[in-house]
Amino acid sequence: EKRAIRASFLHFIANPAEVANPQHSYQFFADGLLVIHDGLIAELRDYHAEDAERYPELEDRSGQLIMPGFVDTHIHYAQTEMIAAYGEQLLEWLDTYTFPTEQQFADKDYASKIAQFVINELLKNGTTSALVFGTVHPQSVDAIFEQAAARNMRLIAGKVMMDRNAPEYLLDTPESGYAESKALIEKWHNRDRLQYAITPRFAPTSTPEQLNMAGRLKAEYPDTYVQTHVSENKNEIEWAKSLFPECRGYFDIYQHYGLTGAKSIFSHAIHLTDEEWQAFSETDSVIAFCPSSNMFLGSGLFALERATAAKVRVGLGTDVGAGTSFSPLQTLSDAYKVMQLRGQKLSALDGFYLATLGGAQALSLSDKIGTLAVGSEADLVVLDWAATEVQRLRMHNSNGLEDRLFALMMLGDDRNIAATYVAGRCVYSAS
Ligand code: GUN
Ligand code: FE
Repeated sequence: EKRAIRASFLHFIANPAEVANPQHSYQFFADGLLVIHDGLIAELRDYHAEDAERYPELEDRSGQLIMPGFVDTHIHYAQTEMIAAYGEQLLEWLDTYTFPTEQQFADKDYASKIAQFVINELLKNGTTSALVFGTVHPQSVDAIFEQAAARNMRLIAGKVMMDRNAPEYLLDTPESGYAESKALIEKWHNRDRLQYAITPRFAPTSTPEQLNMAGRLKAEYPDTYVQTHVSENKNEIEWAKSLFPECRGYFDIYQHYGLTGAKSIFSHAIHLTDEEWQAFSETDSVIAFCPSSNMFLGSGLFALERATAAKVRVGLGTDVGAGTSFSPLQTLSDAYKVMQLRGQKLSALDGFYLATLGGAQALSLSDKIGTLAVGSEADLVVLDWAATEVQRLRMHNSNGLEDRLFALMMLGDDRNIAATYVAGRCVYSAS
């Protein structure tokens, strides 16, 4: 099955020698043609007049901008209903709002209802791949994988492992957490476009025995991912260190238990020490930058330029429900402001790189997604440059491609998403 689309196209070019360098190169076709064959990108080039005859079924999206679908490297799908809960920082926020909400995912039907909502919401925001936290309940992971598979989405998820310092009703044990995670890996990992992430919530909610079992699982299934949180909040860091006094620091806990590495994604990493930055770099571990969440919980300002300098891969994360939007555009707008508060800049090219190829590289998937390179999977977002009166005025007054992209990044949201394609099929259309 072949289809051709005429539009403007923007994507970034992977440079294996500089994976963490946002001064990446890009390709832009003002009037381009994309050919999709069996769900893969077969051709990307300038549009020629003959193409109208050559492709009678040509989908004409002239005036719209197509990019690789956005990659959300950190989201808690089960926290959707408590998004934007008032007034607390991390640890109190977890106790007050998060844990009671996650309890409901013991009910598979309930989990499926929210999973369906979240998958639709991701697609509506142009997000075609995500790294997703479930809850402690294995059925929460079945629910999100079933909904993703129904759309043929490339998605990574895992069951939370958590055996202390949370309400009794949300705890597993080292043995049950291991066995349930293992069963989910056997059931889902590499089935369709789905992959599994071993998911200890964060060091404070796991005993040493559980982290040990998580590390054992990773050693048994080295191809799986690991996702967790690190150095988000100062009280959290002190707490983590007090619970693992034998470790040199927070990140060292994960290193000690064999949970770091090229397929290990750590959310936040705001307050890292010099030694921890070096350890990130040496282990090739990955960071999910969650600017909306970090401001909402008052956690701090992530040093993106430091990650770049240390060649640590970084993806963009919404971190819903501590993040207050599913939109990668709104999340990039927050990222820009975080950088400004640190005296740094985030260009539109840096931003869109982060939300597409950067995220794919963070998930070691840039051979498949995050790019419009020939042979990659045709996961696409179709953007309207302007979706509101203010955006129209601003675009009208714009000065070149980078300025237009910057306005889109700062002012855009789900209203700018005209359509979303997964593996070559249109799975969301605004009209
Ligand atoms: N640290 C441990 N659990 C969580 C969570 O659910 N959200 C955030 N933002 N940080 C965490
Ligand atoms: Fe999180």
